[in-house]
Amino acid sequence: MSRILIKGGTVVTATETMRCDVLVEGEKVVALLGEGAPVPTADTIVDATGRLVFPGSVDAHTHMEIPFGAATSKDTFETGTQAAAWGGTTTIIDFPIQMKGDSLMGSFEETMAKASGSSAIDFGFHQIVGDVNEQSLAEIDLVFKEGVTSYKLFTAYSGVYYSTDAEVAKVMQWAAGNGSTILMHAENGSVIDLLREQAIARGDTAPLAHAATRPAALEGEAAHRVILLAEMTGAPVYIVHISAKQVVAEIAAARSRGTNAFGETCPQYLFLELSMLDQGFEGAKFVCSPPLRDPAEGHQEALWQGLANGDLQVIATDHCPFDFEGQKTLGRDDFTQIPNGLPVVEHRFPLMLHAALADKRFSLNRMVDISATAPAKMFGLYPQKGTIAVGSDADIVIVNPDANDVISAATHHMNVDYSCFEGMELTGKVETVMSRGNVIVADGEFKGSKSHGRYLRRGLNQLLF
Ligand code: URP
Ligand code: ZN
Ligand code: ZN
Repeated sequence: MSRILIKGGTVVTATETMRCDVLVEGEKVVALLGEGAPVPTADTIVDATGRLVFPGSVDAHTHMEIPFGAATSKDTFETGTQAAAWGGTTTIIDFPIQMKGDSLMGSFEETMAKASGSSAIDFGFHQIVGDVNEQSLAEIDLVFKEGVTSYKLFTAYSGVYYSTDAEVAKVMQWAAGNGSTILMHAENGSVIDLLREQAIARGDTAPLAHAATRPAALEGEAAHRVILLAEMTGAPVYIVHISAKQVVAEIAAARSRGTNAFGETCPQYLFLELSMLDQGFEGAKFVCSPPLRDPAEGHQEALWQGLANGDLQVIATDHCPFDFEGQKTLGRDDFTQIPNGLPVVEHRFPLMLHAALADKRFSLNRMVDISATAPAKMFGLYPQKGTIAVGSDADIVIVNPDANDVISAATHHMNVDYSCFEGMELTGKVETVMSRGNVIVADGEFKGSKSHGRYLRRGLNQLLF
């Protein structure tokens, strides 16, 4: 088995910062060698002098090639996982989607067929349950046996993914029986439908109306409701893509009652804001659900604080990219027809690195926790993923903290024609990325392969009270 020695760097995990060398043999980390330790033989030496050495980052929420209205998200597993690798992400968790009337197991098999042999990095799945009925509840058991231990339900998107409160409770009852975690898209869909109809009826058709019809209060209300259903049923609940301060408060309150409630936010809700939708139809580039919020209302600050103090546990992307030309433009005359979602998978880790290094939002250790360790533990992948330790997969990211980077659609690797972070200057640069002992990004080149990524059978949530 070939041996690689990563020499001279500073290893940063969720709990430690250590000057040590990392010895990789085959796919695994086999030793962490502190100063004065005998130098082992190795086939390859990677010089990490002056560099920070992080565990490969884990993005627990992506949507490669998913249908949304009349459009399909532009990144395939092939393009999206390569873009992720460029930004230091070595594991994604994506979503098979059971649509109304479809077989749940069928959707799992279909997504597995798309991802297998096409992914540059390792991948797991959360299952979307879009049609709660006896048949899908029976099939959930089959998907569970395949290592899918988390299930996403929606209180929004009527007629597509929407579940009633009773349907949510029914799947939560099932999950409570076997320890699965329920992911919730929490917005009050029926009131949003009313506001959307009223907006269109009065001729309010521009992208800004997307945000106006999805107020923060309706996100807070839905989060409150599903957390109570989780408490009643005993299922762990993980609220995805949180944009509103009300939801941070709901999760903090639930956790202080001892409820297994968890929260995820995404870079777009931290770095972007409501006013970006208010630029005529260009605002369509920023349409996602829940929407971007007004910083004057304190949402972004609450999210940053939640990540720093532990009320929120995970930073993911909800990566769901649509071209501006030809896809976002489907909604030129009617904001309800704009496909929802933003391209983020490549920049989550670099943005969080910048937040730690330049903006001092949290320590580098906390940055590793929210972006790698906690998602790995939340979704049953730790310590195989999410840390650098003896026996862990050698998923490693080497960063130059003294170099800078600028985000641009002209240079990014996502298969989409714009960047919602265009022109943003970042402190720190990802230089080398390894996935299971294979160098997949180095010297400004992608060196991996589309057949390298493996399916990850996951265990249960390791962060339960
Ligand atoms: O706008 C979003 N969030 N698009 C992706 C689908 C979802 O709700 O996660
Ligand atoms: Zn969602
Ligand atoms: Zn999503």
